[in-house]
Amino acid sequence: MNNTVGIGIIGAGFMGMLHARALSQLADVRVLAASDPALKKAPQLPGHPDPIHLYSDHRELLENPNIQAVVIATPEDSHRQAVKDAAAAGKHILLEKPIATTLEDADAIIEAADKHKVKLMMAHLLRYDVRYAQIKAAVEEGVIGKPLVCYARRNAVVQEARRLGGRVEVEEYISVHDIDQIFWYFNDKAVKVSAEIAEGPVMKELGVHDFIWITIRFEHGGLAVVETGWGLSESIVKWQRPSSWGGFGDVCLELIGEKGSLYLDYRPMTLSAVDEEGWKFPDTLHWPEMHGEVVGDVLDEDRYFVGVVKGEREIISTARDGRNALEVVLAAQRSYREDKPIRL
Ligand SMILES: NC(=O)c1ccc[n+]([C@@H]2O[C@H](COP(=O)([O-])OP(=O)(O)OC[C@H]3O[C@@H](n4cnc5c(N)ncnc54)[C@H](O)[C@@H]3O)[C@@H](O)[C@H]2O)c1
Repeated sequence: MNNTVGIGIIGAGFMGMLHARALSQLADVRVLAASDPALKKAPQLPGHPDPIHLYSDHRELLENPNIQAVVIATPEDSHRQAVKDAAAAGKHILLEKPIATTLEDADAIIEAADKHKVKLMMAHLLRYDVRYAQIKAAVEEGVIGKPLVCYARRNAVVQEARRLGGRVEVEEYISVHDIDQIFWYFNDKAVKVSAEIAEGPVMKELGVHDFIWITIRFEHGGLAVVETGWGLSESIVKWQRPSSWGGFGDVCLELIGEKGSLYLDYRPMTLSAVDEEGWKFPDTLHWPEMHGEVVGDVLDEDRYFVGVVKGEREIISTARDGRNALEVVLAAQRSYREDKPIRL
């Protein structure tokens, strides 16, 4: 297929279809197929005359010789088998976060990609967000000196928790994003983790806690706090688009170093509106639509992945990065369950 990269989507739910759309907008990509046992009808991508091929089993998709790379966007606890099969079939992989929900699965994923020599890029979306990437660049350039403390908040609206129906805890689903950023900035080993949770309406409705605050101590003295939740009332942050649960919520980050500080504030996502229902803050950063196309971080991430597949780019969000973030998530869970700090 000359210089065109053939892509298959494993798990064509919310995130899988978002990647399918974004990738299909790239000139050097063909999104050829998807596999998803829940889909009855082959998905149709905007701007493309024919539906893509639909397989009910990802192993059939992996037999397609025109597919060089796959996006794995199945539920959090099912990544291991899909990665093992894709790697054995020689396909490069963009794997949605979190890498897995156990360290055993994460290790098996790393081993499978190494063994079959396929490229595995973690879809740690924020590394492909220009503002977070600028913070990284500033740290690398020494603008703030040695990072000392970092605080990251990401509080989502309750629709986000409802969409997932309690299948995953908020730290597995959301905190991993910020934990990964913090590792990226500190470039150090986490040695101690402690966490506290708060339970409210989300716990009553869905059986998962509403908020978590995680503290991470790094080997060379760095300290980070990650505050995450999905208990913001939907009336506070609402964006009325019938097919969308967008309008993320309350997101910020500060990184203070020995010589300076960096501040990121995503409230409101640079665009706001008010009507009879109250304030609305649409997503203008992660995957907004413009002129009928998906733009923002997800498009930049997918473009980067295609560069990786073609050998034009180095992977900057590795499976080991995914494992590091997961290790902190699991330690945080032990910490709140056992009510004590956990040494790594
Ligand atoms: N980067 C981000 O910002 C972001 C946002 C949302 C979700 N995610 C991640 O993306 C992944 C998918 O989440 P989602 O929200 O799209 O979930 P989803 O429930 O909308 O979609 C998952 C799909 O996978 C399908 N599936 C299950 N097992 C499968 C298998 N073996 N083969 C093929 N398909 C299978 C399901 O039928 C479902 O349609 C998760 O890891 C999630 O944490 C990332």
